[in-house]
Amino acid sequence: MKRVTLHQLEVFEAIARSGSFTRAAEDLFLTQPTVSQQMKQLTKAVGMPLFELVGKRLYLTDAGKEVLTVCRDISERLSQMEMTLADFKGLKQGNLRLAVTTTAKYFVPRLLGPFRQCYPGIKIFLKVTNRERLVERLTENLDDLYILGQPPENLDINLCPFLENPLVAIAPHNHPLVQQKNISLQRFAEEPFIMRESGSGTRMAVENLFAQKKVSLNVEMEIGSNEAIKQAIVGGLGVSVLSRYVLALEGIKGPLTILDVEGFPLQLHWYILYPASKQLSIVARTFLEYLLDEGKRIVDQIDLEFRNSDS
Ligand code: PGA
Repeated sequence: MKRVTLHQLEVFEAIARSGSFTRAAEDLFLTQPTVSQQMKQLTKAVGMPLFELVGKRLYLTDAGKEVLTVCRDISERLSQMEMTLADFKGLKQGNLRLAVTTTAKYFVPRLLGPFRQCYPGIKIFLKVTNRERLVERLTENLDDLYILGQPPENLDINLCPFLENPLVAIAPHNHPLVQQKNISLQRFAEEPFIMRESGSGTRMAVENLFAQKKVSLNVEMEIGSNEAIKQAIVGGLGVSVLSRYVLALEGIKGPLTILDVEGFPLQLHWYILYPASKQLSIVARTFLEYLLDEGKRIVDQIDLEFRNSDS
C-alpha cells in the first residue's frame, strides 16, 4: 500500500468519475498507456481489481468503491490543508481587483470559481471592458492584474504570456457561405460586416489583418458588444470576426457558424500583465500563480465542451 501514489489516486478518481479510461486520459492530459500503467500499478498495490467491464460499461468493484471513498477523503483533506496554509500566508481576507477584455470574460469567471472555493474570504472585483479602456486603467493603476491581448509597447509592464485567443469568421447558420471551403478574404469582405467599437483589440486585429492583405471590409455597422454582435448576426445583419470563445456556451450547434475563411482562425494571445513598479499583494500573487497553473486546464476544458457540443 505504501507504493500507492497521489497521482495513481488522481487517475483512478478521474476514471471513476468519467466512467472511461479515454475520458480520464483526456481530462488529465495524459496518454492512454500512462493511464493504463497507473491503474495497473494501483491494482497491483491494492491486490484486487478496481473495475469490471460489463458489456461496454465500466463498473467499480467493491474494492474500487472503497478506494474511491478514500480518494475523496484525501482530496478533501488536501484542500483543507491548502486553506489552512493560505491562512498562514494571509489569504483569509483581502480584495482581488481584476480587469479583463471582453474576450477574456468568456473564461475568466469560470476560473474564479475554484479559486474562490479555496479562498472564500477574498472579495473579487472583475472589470470587463475593451482593450483601450483596460490600458487606461493600467496606466492609472486601478486594478491588481489585467488580462488582454496585444499588450501596449510603450508602458513599463510585467508581462506573462497566457493563452491563445483564436479569432474566427462568424455567420448565421443559413448563410450561403456556410457550405463553402477555403473562402477567399476578398469574397468574405464583400459581405456586410459588423465591426466592434473603436478601442477594441478585436477590431484592431481585424483592421490590421485586412490592411496587411490590402482588402477592404464592407463595414455596415459598429457595435460595442460581442453579445450584441452575435444577436445582430442571428438577425441577418451581417457577418463578423470575433474570438472563438464568444461561442463557448452555445457550442457548434448554436445559431452561429464558423466560416472557413482563408487566414482564419487568426491566432492572437492573451497576456496577464501589471505595472512593473507594482508590488503585488499576496492575494494577487496567489491568483497569478493559480492562473498560470490552472488557466490552461480550465480553458482546455471549455474547448473540449465546445468540440463535443455537436455530439
Ligand atoms: P476587446 O478584446 O476586443 O474587447 O478589446 C480584445 C483582447 O482580448 O485583447
